[in-house]
Amino acid sequence: MVFVIQVNGTVQSVDVDDDTPLLWVLRDVLGMTGTKFGCGMALCGACTVHIDGVASRSCVTTIDSIGRSQITTIEAIGATASGAKIQKAWLDREVVQCGYCQSGQIMSASALLASNPHPTDSDIDEAMSGNICRCGTYIRIREAIKQAARGG
Ligand code: FES
Ligand code: FES
Repeated sequence: MVFVIQVNGTVQSVDVDDDTPLLWVLRDVLGMTGTKFGCGMALCGACTVHIDGVASRSCVTTIDSIGRSQITTIEAIGATASGAKIQKAWLDREVVQCGYCQSGQIMSASALLASNPHPTDSDIDEAMSGNICRCGTYIRIREAIKQAARGG
């Protein structure tokens, strides 16, 4: 079936099965490989995108549930105010190690900052708890979110 979806401000038509995960559509149909596959079961956060501004696991979001929602991916997050601050702080704090989890981390962090510009430590812990980093960059992630919340 053909679905018309809005990704990063662009209307896209994709011809896929109803139950195709959004992650597959982004990566395999639209060629947007910044969003990563980790577990496929909503357990790791590697596949996080924004759906109407809310951090969402694209591996368990089927294409038939998207409707008119606005999807934002790591490819365009730098064009948002919170995303730009988060990306700068990530670079300043040298957060990234292997990098595999980091698209998802940045998407969760930018959604947090957009909805809560001055998060407490517990707000950060709660918002980021679903994003796993096997390299253990959690301390730098927290420092970077705090830097971004201070305005960069
Ligand atoms: S790949 Fe989606 S949460 Fe792990
Ligand atoms: S930076 Fe390697 S998994 Fe997070």
